[in-house]
Amino acid sequence: MSDGTWLIYGANGYTGKLVAEEAVRRGHRPLLAGRSAEKIKPVAGRTGLDYVVADLYNHDGLKKALSGINLIFNAAGPFIHTSTQLIEACLEYGINYTDITGEIPVFQNTFSFDNRAKKQGIVLMSGIGFDVIPTDCLARYVADRVPGAVELELAFTGLSHISPGTMKTMVEMIPGGGLVRRNGKLVPYPLGRGAKQILFPGGTRTAIPILWGDLETAYHSTGIPNITTLMSYPPAMIPFLPAGIAVLKTAFASAAIRRMVQTFIGMAVKGPDEHARETGRSYIWARAADAQGNEKQAWLDIPETYQFTAVAGVLAVEKILSLHPTGALTPSMAFGADFVLGVDGVRRYDTPGSFPGR
Ligand SMILES: NC(=O)c1ccc[n+]([C@@H]2O[C@H](COP(=O)([O-])OP(=O)(O)OC[C@H]3O[C@@H](n4cnc5c(N)ncnc54)[C@H](OP(=O)(O)O)[C@@H]3O)[C@@H](O)[C@H]2O)c1
Repeated sequence: MSDGTWLIYGANGYTGKLVAEEAVRRGHRPLLAGRSAEKIKPVAGRTGLDYVVADLYNHDGLKKALSGINLIFNAAGPFIHTSTQLIEACLEYGINYTDITGEIPVFQNTFSFDNRAKKQGIVLMSGIGFDVIPTDCLARYVADRVPGAVELELAFTGLSHISPGTMKTMVEMIPGGGLVRRNGKLVPYPLGRGAKQILFPGGTRTAIPILWGDLETAYHSTGIPNITTLMSYPPAMIPFLPAGIAVLKTAFASAAIRRMVQTFIGMAVKGPDEHARETGRSYIWARAADAQGNEKQAWLDIPETYQFTAVAGVLAVEKILSLHPTGALTPSMAFGADFVLGVDGVRRYDTPGSFPGR
């Protein structure tokens, strides 16, 4: 189905395996890759795909592994440790690059290569998973309906089970604290403050501002200078957040402690099982407003977050291989606000009156 050979790096990870399985389901034959033969081989056996072993720091080995490849799907996170090496290789050999990061420094780094990507005629697209495809597409959808919008709010609910890599990535991000975007700049924002009630298709939830990839990507996609990203959170736990985060920030400031905790996470955390992936739903809300108070709200009802990531990620690969966009782009910049509607099981609503059961 694809018009060339693509490669999944980190294919033995929780999400990498889901992406490989979804790719096979849609008739693709991506090459599987990772740094450990022992871990990659069983995934290749199960999926019937070929594999290659490549360490990101071995230039010659990486070059050999990438020979004949025209797109990399990087599923090896935390991406702060893997994306630069793979982007540099993509720029050197003229290969399209994608990943499923949610890390703001990684998005910023990817965007910094925009000119080089355009010169090479390749695309660099970070965030082709739950973070940030649905929020990015919905941000673009509401922004397009409020010309001159100055404020954007994006909220989600439904991240109830998380994978080992997501938890390891959170350990990396906690010392950075909370953020919002104000007047075009990212500014610190204390976690636990600013709780509000948000109506989602699944019901009303309490949500608090958190650090989310759209603080960077939605700014590129919409140009709106004030952005807040929120996540639903159990109200009873919100008062304890500031103290809890302060303790974690102190503990995780040490790279040695972060590594120790991540090793434990790798052994103990399994991620959502098949039943949770097949039955879970996640909901997104977006609101854009201009200085006069004109506003547009919209909602998405999407499959469970990891299920969504695998399906939407493979769809994004197909789009890139057929449309050949170039430069460092967000999903909505490359494919438009309606891209998310092409993912199986996604519904968009313009008013609460159209939610199911109303
Ligand atoms: N955007 C989204 O919505 C979304 C959705 C799902 C996941 N994610 C992100 O995707 C990442 C992976 O999550 P996961 O749960 O699948 O993780 P995981 O199960 O821990 O797997 C991580 C994979 O990355 C590889 N890896 C990690 N660091 C590496 C390095 N320095 N060099 C080479 N390979 C490296 C691991 O290789 P080894 O096994 O050899 O260590 C493994 O293959 C996380 O950052 C997570 O936050 C994002």
